[in-house]
Amino acid sequence: MSLYAMGDFHLNFGCDRSMDQYGDIWVGHEKRIEKYIRKYVKDDDTLVITGDHTKGYKMREALPDLEFIATLPGRKILLRGNHDTFWKSGKTENLNKEFDGKLFFLQDNFYTYGDYALVGSKGYCYEGKDTYEHFLKIRDREMERMQTSIDKAREAGYDKFIMFLHYPPTTIGEEESPFTLLAEKIHARMVVYSHCHGDARFYDSFHGMVNGVEYKLVSSDFLKFKPLKLC
Ligand SMILES: [Fe+2]
Ligand SMILES: [Fe+2]
Repeated sequence: MSLYAMGDFHLNFGCDRSMDQYGDIWVGHEKRIEKYIRKYVKDDDTLVITGDHTKGYKMREALPDLEFIATLPGRKILLRGNHDTFWKSGKTENLNKEFDGKLFFLQDNFYTYGDYALVGSKGYCYEGKDTYEHFLKIRDREMERMQTSIDKAREAGYDKFIMFLHYPPTTIGEEESPFTLLAEKIHARMVVYSHCHGDARFYDSFHGMVNGVEYKLVSSDFLKFKPLKLC
């Protein structure tokens, strides 16, 4: 039994928004995602998929991508990425009912792996795409979601945590953020994130041990589409 992670599949089985324009690495990437997940992940393993599942906008376009993910081996836990507009923020419970037993949607809840609570939120960092005030508002909301996830895990008796974020834990150049401080406070074993694509962005945020917490980037292109074994 193992825990794996990888994010940013950016699938487009249900729409014509291909990733091919973003470079050769993305041509036929869904075939490599399937090949490597089937190679490494077994049915009794857990795979956390850290957001940006689909290029589809609405559920109608996203559904073929979610169905593709559901056919892959292992217990699939999905985090919400910035591209996942099919996933309305108040509808996580509905998604969990709709895909009951096939996919598990992580937001305002938690899952477990052995002694660990798998907690998560989309997170947020400043990319200059919105006003700083708007960035702070979204970041605060995602911090609340992470805290809700942790609180629910604690209420259920868990005190060991692995944190999942879609966005990197810090904005470029930052040495700490509310997410990294929280990870340190709860002694998270790991913070796992994705969202960063391409050589120019892979090192936007933390890698390796920082103040006692291990940070891992699991963007699919960074991993060359091979899921990363966390433990
Ligand atoms: Fe992405
Ligand atoms: Fe993203």
